[in-house]
Amino acid sequence: MSVIDFHSHILPGIDHGCADINECMAQLDIMSSNLTDIAVATPHFYPHIHKVNTFREAVDSSVLELRTKKQSTPRICVGAEVLLCEGLESMNEFSNLCISGTKCMLIELPTHALKNGHFDTIEYMLSNGYTVLLAHIDRYFKICPNDVDTLISMGALAQINADALFHHSSCKRIFKYLEQSECICALGSDLHGSKISSYKHFVKSSKVLKEYYQAIMSRAEVLLSDAEKF
Ligand SMILES: [Fe+2]
Repeated sequence: MSVIDFHSHILPGIDHGCADINECMAQLDIMSSNLTDIAVATPHFYPHIHKVNTFREAVDSSVLELRTKKQSTPRICVGAEVLLCEGLESMNEFSNLCISGTKCMLIELPTHALKNGHFDTIEYMLSNGYTVLLAHIDRYFKICPNDVDTLISMGALAQINADALFHHSSCKRIFKYLEQSECICALGSDLHGSKISSYKHFVKSSKVLKEYYQAIMSRAEVLLSDAEKF
């Protein structure tokens, strides 16, 4: 089984999660020393601020810098944490926001109830062969739980943040999902910055998830089977 951290902000200079290559190397050291095999780099993409082509150019040059410095582990896949907006799918080069080598996109929901246009975008993606992976669904248990359930019933998959496993109410709800379906396919640290303590919940999550931990990692591995890794 590979340990996969499916949500992290580790690309130097792309978002507020990682200031520069030195901070990135410190983040990778934390991951490596905690036996994380694969990290998915998911810098924030905000459709009201970014254009896909310039975002990807910045990501590519960050990756180039990282490739020259990094050690063997963890291996890295490159994606984005894409904020859902109505009509997102009509942005130029939209598909370049997927995890490289896949049609899987990590989608962050807005912090309010969804509108019809948001559902239309997800419907478009699902019917055009994209895998929609909802970022940290635990964040929306209080904001728009019904919307999360609707998206999952449409065919979206879910990622959870390790931190949520250490809060009683969100942990309880995560277990409900785990018992009822296989929609939770990814676990993430959502690492920002390089404080060792920020990674402790990801490291301890196997103890909370027990047999579900391996199931989630196996599903994550399937999602990344065609992903480019370096
Ligand atoms: Fe994030």
